[in-house]
Amino acid sequence: MIILGILEVLMSYINNYGDTVRIKTGPKRQLLLTSNYKLYELLLPKMEFVKKSMDYKFFQRWLGTGLLTSEGAKWKKHRQILTPTFHFNLLEDFLEVFESNSKILVEEFKKHLDDTSVDIYRFVNLCTLDIICETTMGTSVKAQENSDSEYVQSVKNMLDIIMGRVFTPHKLFDWIYFFTEDYKKEHKALKILHSHTWDVIKRRRVLYLDALAKGVEVKQRKALLDLLLELNINGQHLSLEEIREEVDTFMFAGHHATASAISFSLFCLANHPEEQATEQKNIFGNDFDRSVSSRDLKSMQYLDLFIKETLRLYPPGPFYSRELDHDVPYEGTILPKGLTITLFAYALHRNPAYFPEPEKFSPSRFENVDGKLPFIYLPFSAGPRNCIGHRFAVVEMKSVISRIVRTFELLPAIPAHELQIASQIVLISTNGVRIRFKKRNQHTGTV
Ligand code: HEM
Repeated sequence: MIILGILEVLMSYINNYGDTVRIKTGPKRQLLLTSNYKLYELLLPKMEFVKKSMDYKFFQRWLGTGLLTSEGAKWKKHRQILTPTFHFNLLEDFLEVFESNSKILVEEFKKHLDDTSVDIYRFVNLCTLDIICETTMGTSVKAQENSDSEYVQSVKNMLDIIMGRVFTPHKLFDWIYFFTEDYKKEHKALKILHSHTWDVIKRRRVLYLDALAKGVEVKQRKALLDLLLELNINGQHLSLEEIREEVDTFMFAGHHATASAISFSLFCLANHPEEQATEQKNIFGNDFDRSVSSRDLKSMQYLDLFIKETLRLYPPGPFYSRELDHDVPYEGTILPKGLTITLFAYALHRNPAYFPEPEKFSPSRFENVDGKLPFIYLPFSAGPRNCIGHRFAVVEMKSVISRIVRTFELLPAIPAHELQIASQIVLISTNGVRIRFKKRNQHTGTV
């Protein structure tokens, strides 16, 4: 289910009433919607404001209290344990996964070379689902080849159901929701999702214990799950249920936002083709088809700027919220305990006070600003509760986009496609993300 209009309505509040708006959400509940960087600066860096708002509870039957939804001591302990698992060396191991799945995506796009308008979002979403399953669980669900599988459908159903709950007032209450068709559908989807995760966890654990007993190294690329299992086996207080929660959390947090980010980047590339392949040609020379290395990715500085500008205009997480658990003095007033503050990144990034001519797509605005925009540019949030998968996402995006740009020239769709931006937990376009492809010479990159 797609909820149209929420984003436009919230933007209109900001445009009409100023950069911070107080909204009554119940007899005793208030929400502060803001695109003023001072509130981001106040909340994001401090440990005392890491409590998420109640909307996140709708994820809990699926994700339990994994990193995205947990609070307090549990969140702090897990964040400490999980941060090293996203180390750069591990990301290098994942390049092969990014590469093999990008190749499947490219083959899908090749089937559409004669089409003047292709909606790329669905294809990209299946690709990022394959990538996250393989990197997190170490096994592929082959979503790109089998998009009708029970697992893929259940992921989709859960996202639809959660979105429906967040924006449908009567479904906010469990005692009403439990009598709806959605609840039955959720029950079925969760059975499939959880049993898949448990199955993988159990199989990989046996593999590890076996190898340990024989005193040999497991000869396969390590998935994030394996690192968590090592912690469990070494007695570092991460139970199997906690591991299940984290694996499902990465699955959810790691595929949908990345699909949104890659799709919008490809759309922007198609509509700003000026320098699409120049940088790739400089890096790959006459061997346009070879695998990408982490050194190549580091050299893609123009692609970096391009992605930054795409995420400014189309932040996959358009808003995220915190709930205050004590009164907070702010600019001569008190922000009361219980207040939900919704940090509206989509509006922050379009605030002309911070980004002149905000609607203009201009990657060069990010040249020479590294480190100078801590609280006005926040696609990955900031501070202790920022996106733990930030670097993972950027490496994945660059790998996939590089492979696509080296295979095709990306062009605007015919007829011209205008995005209809909306929020479906992540930012999407309700009428699809449409572009056109023209094949390049695989050795030289010419079209
Ligand atoms: C372009 C892609 C991505 C974007 C734009 C993005 C954005 C974000 C944002 C804005 C948050 C903060 C949410 C909040 O405060 O409620 C977040 C949190 C999180 N993200 Fe990402 N994310 C992306 C990709 C990923 C990937 C690939 C992974 C995992 C592999 C991931 C895992 C997480 C987790 C676990 C959290 C919760 C962290 C915590 O609360 O400690 N994300 N992400």
